[in-house]
Amino acid sequence: MLARAGHVVPGWFYDLSMQTSPPLTALGFDAYGTLFDVFSIAALCEEYFPGRGAALAQLWRAKQLHYSLLRSLMERHRDFWRVTEDGLVYAARSLGLDLTPGCRSRLLDAYRTLEAFPDVRPGLEALKAQGVRLAILSNGEPAMLQSAVVSAGLAPLFDAIVSVEDVGVFKPSPRVYALLPKQLATDPSRVGFVSSNSWDIAGAGSAGLTTFWIQRGAAEPPEEIGFPATHIVHAIPDLPALL
Ligand code: LAC
Repeated sequence: MLARAGHVVPGWFYDLSMQTSPPLTALGFDAYGTLFDVFSIAALCEEYFPGRGAALAQLWRAKQLHYSLLRSLMERHRDFWRVTEDGLVYAARSLGLDLTPGCRSRLLDAYRTLEAFPDVRPGLEALKAQGVRLAILSNGEPAMLQSAVVSAGLAPLFDAIVSVEDVGVFKPSPRVYALLPKQLATDPSRVGFVSSNSWDIAGAGSAGLTTFWIQRGAAEPPEEIGFPATHIVHAIPDLPALL
């Protein structure tokens, strides 16, 4: 069952955008957490640090995002590969784990070959078959994105891979979301944005895009910062029916 956000009526949601918006011809996808499972790395973390793998993977991701936000506010951009490494070093130190150079390099390298969520390929293939143009819009720097897409066998499905490196600031800066219609040479009203990261949905909505939140955890509440998702679904194969 699809849940739709918008104007709340008792017991159900009613979506005004379904009546007024022009049809979308392109979708941009967030990468980490939406296409690629950043916690698939926990197994490798566990090999190095038995009993601490999940904690390391969680704190690593949290610090990676925290540093991306801090750097954007500080106007001290550093690419996401290095921000990811900084997050790993902090997380290991914070948990009292001995991150040898070999371990640091192997864990970081795992970011190039993250597993795609099982719904990604069938969902993207269905959208592609429907004629929707597909892109990635991610904090990731171009080489790490390219490696992950190729490793997951998803490269032929995408028309464009757009990185924040083109503007030198991270999401949720509106300058990032403006890249998507620009790179696809499409009017912003015809481009939707898909993410499992609810804060990313708020950013894209604030920047004026139609948004689709993949709510991967049923218990995860929406953000309390305005700009709720235009649509809420639970997996990527739910999207074709909404376009
Ligand atoms: C990305 C991060 C935010 O791919 O997950 O942009």
